[in-house]
Amino acid sequence: MIKSTEQLQKYLDKKAFHLVSEAADELQTECYVIGGYVRDIFLNRPSKDIDVVTVGSGIALAETVAKRIGRGASLAVYKNFGTAQVKYKDIEIEFVGARKESYNRDSRKPIVENGTLEDDQNRRDFTINALAICLNKGRFGELVDPFGGLEDMQNKIIRTPLDPDITFSDDPLRMMRAIRFATQLHFHIQEDIFDAIARNKERINIISKERIADELNKIMLSHKPSIGFLLLDKCGLLPIIMPELVALKGVESKEGRGHKDNFYHTLKVLDNTAAKTDNLWLLWAALLHDIAKPVTKRWDNQLGWTFHNHNFIGEKMVPRLFRNMKLPMNEKMKYVQKLVGLHMRPIVLSEDEVTDSAVRRLIFDAGDDVDDLMLLCEADITSKNPEKVKRHLKNFELVRQKMKELEEKDRIRNMQPPVTGEEIMEIFGLAPCRQVGTIKTAIKDAILDGIIPNEREAALQFMYETAAQLGLEAKK
Ligand code: CTP
Repeated sequence: MIKSTEQLQKYLDKKAFHLVSEAADELQTECYVIGGYVRDIFLNRPSKDIDVVTVGSGIALAETVAKRIGRGASLAVYKNFGTAQVKYKDIEIEFVGARKESYNRDSRKPIVENGTLEDDQNRRDFTINALAICLNKGRFGELVDPFGGLEDMQNKIIRTPLDPDITFSDDPLRMMRAIRFATQLHFHIQEDIFDAIARNKERINIISKERIADELNKIMLSHKPSIGFLLLDKCGLLPIIMPELVALKGVESKEGRGHKDNFYHTLKVLDNTAAKTDNLWLLWAALLHDIAKPVTKRWDNQLGWTFHNHNFIGEKMVPRLFRNMKLPMNEKMKYVQKLVGLHMRPIVLSEDEVTDSAVRRLIFDAGDDVDDLMLLCEADITSKNPEKVKRHLKNFELVRQKMKELEEKDRIRNMQPPVTGEEIMEIFGLAPCRQVGTIKTAIKDAILDGIIPNEREAALQFMYETAAQLGLEAKK
C-alpha cells in the first residue's frame, strides 16, 4: 500500500491537481483532496470525481481554477450550498469550503458553519472516507489522517470518526453506506459501529426512498450482494426498507416434511446471478423471483408444501414493490415482472421431456429476454444434491441447444404474425370481431406447435382451413 508523500505525489501528478495547487497558493488558502477519491487511490480503484476542500471559499477557489484552465473549462456555482464545480475534459472537480456541521433530529439538512480541516474531517462518515491530501505547494502530497483511516483500510475495517450514534443520527443514510462499503470492499464493520446501526435503524425513515434504493442498487451490483442483505437483515434495517424479503425467512415442517428457507435461497440465487451479470434489472429479478412464496404457501396432504402460482402472483407484486421503493415504473419494471412471471418455465420444461413446441412457446413468450431468463433459471438451481444439480444443468443445456436449433429454423424470438388481423378482416369481409382473434391465435399456435412452418404461404393456407371450420367464406 502507498504510504509516503513521494508516492502520493506521483498519484497527484496530473495537470488538474497542479492547477488547483497553484490557484490555492494564489489565494493563500489551504486546500486538500478529500473523501472517496483519496480512499480509492489506496484501494487502487480509479475514480474521476474529485472532491476538493479548502479552508476558505470553495467558490473563489473554483473560479480561480477555471480562470487558470481558460478555454474548455466549465464552471458551475451553487451559491446556496457554497459549492462549485469545474469540469474539464473528463475530469470533474467539486470545490467546497471546510465546514463544521450540526444537525437537528428530524431532518438530515445540516446547519452549516465555516470550519477548519479537522472540523470537516470530523463530520465525515467513515475514517476511510475522511483522509485528506494537501495540495498546497509546500505540502503537496502530504496525507492528513487524524483518525487512522489508513490503518483501517489496511485492516479492512469500517469505523466512524466520531461516536457512531452521532455520525448515524446526523445522516442515517450512512448506515446503508456502511453496509454498502462492507459489501463492495469486503470490509468488516467494527462491532460497536454495527451495534450503533442496530440502535439507530428507525432513523432510516427520514431518508428518501430514492437514496435508499441507490445504495441497494450498489449492493446488488457488488461481487457478492448477499453480504449486504445479510447485514441489513442482522441490524434490523431490512424489515424497515423491504419487509417483503424478510417474509421469505423461515422453515416450517409438517409430518416430517420441511421446505427450504426462501430467504437464504433467494440470496444464493442473487449471488449466482451477480457472478454472471452486471445487469441491475436482472439482479432485481433474481431478488424478487420468489417474492410471492410466503403468500402462496399451502400444505397439501399428498404433495407437502406447495407455492402454487407464486411466479404469477410475484409478477403482480412487482409494480407495488417498485413503486414503494421509488424504483423506475418503466420498461425496466416490466422486464423484472416478465422474468419473475416466467422464471418457472425453463425448469418445468427441463423436468419434463423437452418438446419442440414447449421450447418454441418459451422463446415466443420471453422474446429477446430469453437468454436472461435462462441465466436466471440456472442461477435458481441451489440444491445441495449434486446429482440433482447435474441433471438440471444437463437438461438446461438441452433446452438451450434446442432453442438455438429452433430459432435458426423458425425465427420465433420476435415473431410477427405472418397474416395480420386487417388482412383476415379484408379477405373474409369481417368487421373487428372475436373470429378474427380466433383465426390469428390458431395460426400462431400452429406455428409454435410445429404444425406449419413460420412462413406466409403456409399461414395463409392454414387461415383458409381454419376459417372454413368456422363457417366463413373468402370474399375475394
Ligand atoms: N460523505 C459523508 N456522508 C454521506 C455521504 C458522503 O460523510 N452520507 C462524505 C464522505 O467523506 C465521502 C464524501 O462525502 O467520501 C463523498 O461522498 P460520495 O461522493 O457520495 O461518496 P464516495 O465516498 O465518493 O463513494 P461512492 O462514489 O462509492 O459513493
